[in-house]
Amino acid sequence: MDVRLELVKPDRFPRSAGYHVNWMIENSMGPNVLWLSEFLSEAMEFKPGMKVLDLGCGKALSSVFFAREFGVEIWATDLWIAAEENERRIQEAGLAGQIHAVGAEAHALPFEQDFFDAIVSLDAYHYFGTDDLYLGYITKFLKRGRQIGVVSPGLVREFEGDPPEHLQSGWYWDFASLHSPAWWRRHWDRVGKVNIEVADWLEDGWKHWALWNRVCSEQPGVDSPELAYAEEAAFVEADAGRNLGFVRVVATRREQDRWL
Ligand SMILES: C[S@@+](CC[C@H](N)C(=O)[O-])C[C@H]1O[C@@H](n2cnc3c(N)ncnc32)[C@H](O)[C@@H]1O
Repeated sequence: MDVRLELVKPDRFPRSAGYHVNWMIENSMGPNVLWLSEFLSEAMEFKPGMKVLDLGCGKALSSVFFAREFGVEIWATDLWIAAEENERRIQEAGLAGQIHAVGAEAHALPFEQDFFDAIVSLDAYHYFGTDDLYLGYITKFLKRGRQIGVVSPGLVREFEGDPPEHLQSGWYWDFASLHSPAWWRRHWDRVGKVNIEVADWLEDGWKHWALWNRVCSEQPGVDSPELAYAEEAAFVEADAGRNLGFVRVVATRREQDRWL
C-alpha cells in the first residue's frame, strides 16, 4: 500500500501515530477509530488493570488501542464481527489474555452487573443508544463512580425540520440517529443515572473524517457499497463542518440514582 504517511499521522493524534497505517486501513469500518479513541481517552481516566467494555468494537482496533496505551483489560464486544475473527486479530496484536472477544447484541450483554470500571463506545453507540431507556440498561454493568464515554458521528445542532439543502441528496434515513452534543447531554441527563462531565465536539472533526475517507478510497479494493469512502468524503467535504462531525459524551455513574 502506498499511503501518504504524512496525511494519516496528523499531529492532533500523537498516540495513534504509533500504529501501522496498513493495519488501520485493512480493518477500517468507517472514520479512523484510533483517532476517535484518542479523542475519547483525553476526557476519561484509565488505570492499568481496569476492566473496560468496548461496546460495538467492530474489528477491535479501539480495544487494541486502549489495551496498549493504558494497560487496561478489555471485553471487545460486537454484533456484526464474529468473536473468532476478533480473537485472531487480538492474538496477532500480541494481546491475547488482555482483550477478550465477545459476540453479543447491545441489549443482551452476557456480563454481571457492576462489573466494569469503564465503558467505551466508538462510532457505534448511535446505532442502539438513542433509545431513551438504553443508558439505564448499559450503566447497570458499570461500577458506581466510574465512567462511560462515547464518540460518534453527530451534528453541531439539531435540525428544525429536514436536513439543510446541501445535505439532502446524500442523506440516508438512518442518519436520523446523528445528534448534537446538547441533544446527548439532555438524553443522558434526564435518566438521572449519571453525572455528565463532557458533551462536546471534536474540533475540525469533519476534516479528519474526510481525510481518512479519502485515504481509504485511494486504496485499491477498499471502497465498497457498504463502506463508500469516496461518497462519504464528498458528503462531509460539501458540508465543511457546518453540521457534521464527531460528538463526545463522557459521564460518571452516580453513587445514587436520581429517580426511583
Ligand atoms: C460503524 S461500525 C464501527 C465499529 C468500530 N467501533 C470502529 O469504529 O471501527 C459500528 C459497529 O457497531 C456495532 N453494532 C451496531 N449495532 C449493534 C448492536 N445492536 N449490538 C452490538 N453492536 C452493534 C456493529 O457490530 C459495528 O461493528
